[in-house]
Amino acid sequence: MEKAIKEEKEMTADSRERAKELLSSLTLSEKVGQLVQVSGDHGHVGDDLRERIRNGSIGSVINEVDPATVSELQRIARTESDKGIPLLIGRDVVHGFRTIFPIPLGLAATFNEALIEESAALAAREAAAQGVNWTFAPMIDVSRDPRWGRIAESLGEDTYVTSVLGAAMVRGFQKDPEHRLLACPKHFAGYAASESGRDYNTSNIPEIELRNTYLPPFRAALEAGAGSIMPSFSDLNGVPPTGNRWLLRQVLRDEWNFEGFVISDWASVTELVEHGIAADHADAARMAVEAGANMDMASEAYANHLEALVESGVVPIEVVDQLVLEVLTVKFWLGLFDSDRVWNEVSVVSDEAREKAMQAAAESAVLLKNEDWTLPLSDDQTVALIGPLADQPYEQLGTWVFDAIEDDSVSLRSALEERLGNRLGYCPGLEISRDRRHDQFDEAVRLASQSDVVVVALGEESILSGEAHCRTDIRLPGAQEALVTALAASGKPIIGVIMAGRPLVFGDIAHHLDAIIYAWHPGTMAGPALTKLLFGEINPSAKLPVTLPRAVGQVPIYYNNRNTGRPPRPETVTFIDDIDPQAHQVSVGNTSFHLDVDPSPAYPFGFGMSYTWFEYGQPELLSEHNTVETGFRIGLNITNAGDRAGTEIVQLYIRDVVASVTRPVKELKGFERVALEPGESRWVEFEIRPADLAFFNGIENVVEPGLFKVFVGGGSDTELGLDVELSAN
Ligand code: NOJ
Repeated sequence: MEKAIKEEKEMTADSRERAKELLSSLTLSEKVGQLVQVSGDHGHVGDDLRERIRNGSIGSVINEVDPATVSELQRIARTESDKGIPLLIGRDVVHGFRTIFPIPLGLAATFNEALIEESAALAAREAAAQGVNWTFAPMIDVSRDPRWGRIAESLGEDTYVTSVLGAAMVRGFQKDPEHRLLACPKHFAGYAASESGRDYNTSNIPEIELRNTYLPPFRAALEAGAGSIMPSFSDLNGVPPTGNRWLLRQVLRDEWNFEGFVISDWASVTELVEHGIAADHADAARMAVEAGANMDMASEAYANHLEALVESGVVPIEVVDQLVLEVLTVKFWLGLFDSDRVWNEVSVVSDEAREKAMQAAAESAVLLKNEDWTLPLSDDQTVALIGPLADQPYEQLGTWVFDAIEDDSVSLRSALEERLGNRLGYCPGLEISRDRRHDQFDEAVRLASQSDVVVVALGEESILSGEAHCRTDIRLPGAQEALVTALAASGKPIIGVIMAGRPLVFGDIAHHLDAIIYAWHPGTMAGPALTKLLFGEINPSAKLPVTLPRAVGQVPIYYNNRNTGRPPRPETVTFIDDIDPQAHQVSVGNTSFHLDVDPSPAYPFGFGMSYTWFEYGQPELLSEHNTVETGFRIGLNITNAGDRAGTEIVQLYIRDVVASVTRPVKELKGFERVALEPGESRWVEFEIRPADLAFFNGIENVVEPGLFKVFVGGGSDTELGLDVELSAN
């Protein structure tokens, strides 16, 4: 590992030297060109694009994935432009390229670092084979608001999970020199805290919260080697990140020593005018450059104004030189100058990719409920398959799937048909998830009544989540609740399979469902994966990477909240109907709750069931000296107490009981996937390092001595634990 790090450093130093030399030969116009990204022409090379590349006026092209066209673009850049600088070819490869893995929120539910790294490596292989060399991923915005459509792209609500899994994605994208995609963690920072869950909206985040919750995943992604980063569209505390010197210079470069480069989000440079912080496009270019945004995605503000800004002395040439140097260094590091490769094949879904996507889909689906062992199904049962997501090969893919082909995707209907033949009956009930018509309900109920068991595939079409697709009502859209209620009249056991891009609220119909599998948008292999889970060929292991609320009004609701001075207690929680109608201003306990909903979530972060069950032994403190400099070690025994093999995701949480600023009631600091045969036990250990105990207190990062509570279990609601007293030395 150390050798690899050393080699990587040397490679960067060498790349920087080569970049410096090249930089010194560039004209001002060529320098500016390296900071300009434009959109491709969708499969051909238009005259304007050709000319601009020849003139050295473009450093990168986004959204061109046709192999022959990419080859031609690179040929022009390399052989027809004066300095022969190759292009960065960018694409949003977010959860797969041709083979689609579960949406990132689903991938996070696997808690499987190695699998996520492999999924990114596979996506890189498929994309790089067509000439792409840069992806705008991973998206590592800690996301606590399910109204926000982009929660689908995130790794959920937890800082630690997002840090670990985001770093795994970075490694996956960048690890294979032959098929490397430059990673670009985004959106730096605090984008997910957009007010009211409305995309592009303002984020107001105190520095303590920013540094403790939102920034650590970015630091982890950069430490994993990500060579680029994208600031967010939003307004962060009054200064949009694209023009935010504090964020892009002080935090990113001065504190974190980031040596890669910053790409703006789409037109976010000129949007500084819209935000009301720059007077015009020239002013916006000045502001973004001064803040440290190296490359301008699509707004043309740099292309149109940067030369003049330098010539008139508004922007010092040294500032531009540094930005260009950082871009060129990454181009050298990526090996773009050392290859004259031509691309001529379109990627296809390989057997290996199909297998991995199936595994990921199966490991991402969370079993939320399984009353009376409704699941797993047995092969002699007749099954009624109903619901708007049962046979929607495209919709099951989720957001950001530009390069997927619907025909590669296998729906639940086709996989079940293959397994059950004529023991499967199918009626969609609703044509799409938003469908409000009840005209197929009678047929659906008839089919249900004639079958042993009902599988109802509910959820959201892919277009209802993702960028700019936010909702205020996060219940099942259309007439899906009514469909489930109608099916309940059949008296047959009903299994709900929910495919969605966000946490949905479905408490009004949950009691009609005997079993519930929350599958997110599972990707290409949704059908086979869900079928294997339904029939117990694969035992569910996923855990929720995000809290499922009972009501949208609870949002934001997340497990690692701070306690308040008046946390709700069962004896103080009062429901609206319990208040005496005659009463005047009575006290209802005066603790922190809503009058009309239980303060707990519908399902807590970290929750997920299995077809077996696990028994946790009392955790033990293994380390003798537990100081702010050493941290501590915890061990525990876990046993598969059921009669099926299964995998448990063992989670470790801490609580810093008394600190100089209020700290979360629980914080995840470790997890491990533990596969156990029936009856098998395993001893699991967790090392809690000082860095895991550190927090920003408003001035600096500190680890404070005192009492820590440690909790271990299969979900964030665990109370099993022990106390650790951390001494100052
Ligand atoms: C806008 C999105 O915010 C960003 O995530 C994406 O990478 C760019 N568009 C490019 O498609």
